[in-house]
Amino acid sequence: MKSVFALGVGLLSLAAALPATLSASKPPSVNGTRFTIDGETRYFAGTNSYWIGFLTNNKDVDSVLSNIASSGLKVLRVWGFNDVTRKPGSGTVWYQLVSSSGSQINTGADGLQRLDYVVQSAEKRGIKLIVNFVNYWNDYGGIAAYVSAFGGTKESWFANDKAQAQYRKYIAAVVGRYASSPAIFAWELANEPRCKGCSTDVIFKWASDTSAYIRSLDPAHMITLGDEGFGLPGGTSYPYGTSEGVDFVKNLGVKDLDFGVFHMYPGSWSVPNSFGPGWVKDHAAACKKAGKPCVLEEYGVTSDQCNVEKTWQQASRAADGMAGDMFWQWGDKLSSGQSPNDGNTIYYGSSTATCLITDNVKAINSMYLV
Ligand SMILES: *[C@@H]1O[C@H](CO)[C@@H](O)[C@H](O)[C@H]1NC(C)=O
Repeated sequence: MKSVFALGVGLLSLAAALPATLSASKPPSVNGTRFTIDGETRYFAGTNSYWIGFLTNNKDVDSVLSNIASSGLKVLRVWGFNDVTRKPGSGTVWYQLVSSSGSQINTGADGLQRLDYVVQSAEKRGIKLIVNFVNYWNDYGGIAAYVSAFGGTKESWFANDKAQAQYRKYIAAVVGRYASSPAIFAWELANEPRCKGCSTDVIFKWASDTSAYIRSLDPAHMITLGDEGFGLPGGTSYPYGTSEGVDFVKNLGVKDLDFGVFHMYPGSWSVPNSFGPGWVKDHAAACKKAGKPCVLEEYGVTSDQCNVEKTWQQASRAADGMAGDMFWQWGDKLSSGQSPNDGNTIYYGSSTATCLITDNVKAINSMYLV
């Protein structure tokens, strides 16, 4: 409660310092196949930082968000989860202990108060956040943490009553904490949910039920799924198929999902880098048909990043149906050294950042010159 109150006070002083249009701004919303953010309807560039909510140094959080804002990036996707099955030692941030003998949501200084600080700092800088609630992958707990507590498999998780009840408790805690923050862009059900070998009805039903639940908690903010965008017409290679239990086009039809997202890692999917522009265009076409915006929410390669990724950005800016692109992932200098690098990281101030951040933002701005 204390931190929520502190957030409110921060908002009041922020409102006083800003022009009336911005302080009175409505939450980001869909407008055709674009978004309206703080009164402006346009394509946006953004990025990802899974780790920012796990930092323990406020100055690091502020400096990263300042650098993101001054680079012209508008939307940042962060991990809104950090699940453990055992409490870690002090100094390690965790958000939720998942346990059959009593789960616990950590609202302490080494818990959601770290995410509170990211939200407050984003508010001050006009950055909008996509916050998601669980990982398909085992990093930071994920579905596997729930499976270890409540049984079943990663595939049965989507319909496991006990697991879903705890997942909803966690969602309610996070949504309740930030629903009144102007920094929220959208809530996201999961990072890259898959249900290998399952009927696509499994994820469709779970996404329908969960998004309706989130809407009942917070009717004001947008909601999206967080998937990789598998399962759509336009190609015959692995990502176009539904073997991971995901049907992108079907999921676009979920009433309470406001926009579609997709990811792109040709290297991990055994397709050539030249696969990129077509993957973008095919999603854009599906989104246009559904009347919802599409966001290229994660994309990366581990070599020749500038030359490869700029063709993806071009395709995204040009395609009717695309509303934004967000590279994976932001890199920066922290008090502890360089932020994590999984090979895809683009470090602030590097020549790759000039190519894929500065030049992309310039190209976007030139779309709106009158
Ligand atoms: C929606 O977008 C159109 C075209 O850019 C713009 O004229 C209109 O003002 C926008 N509507 C809202 C509510 O922002």
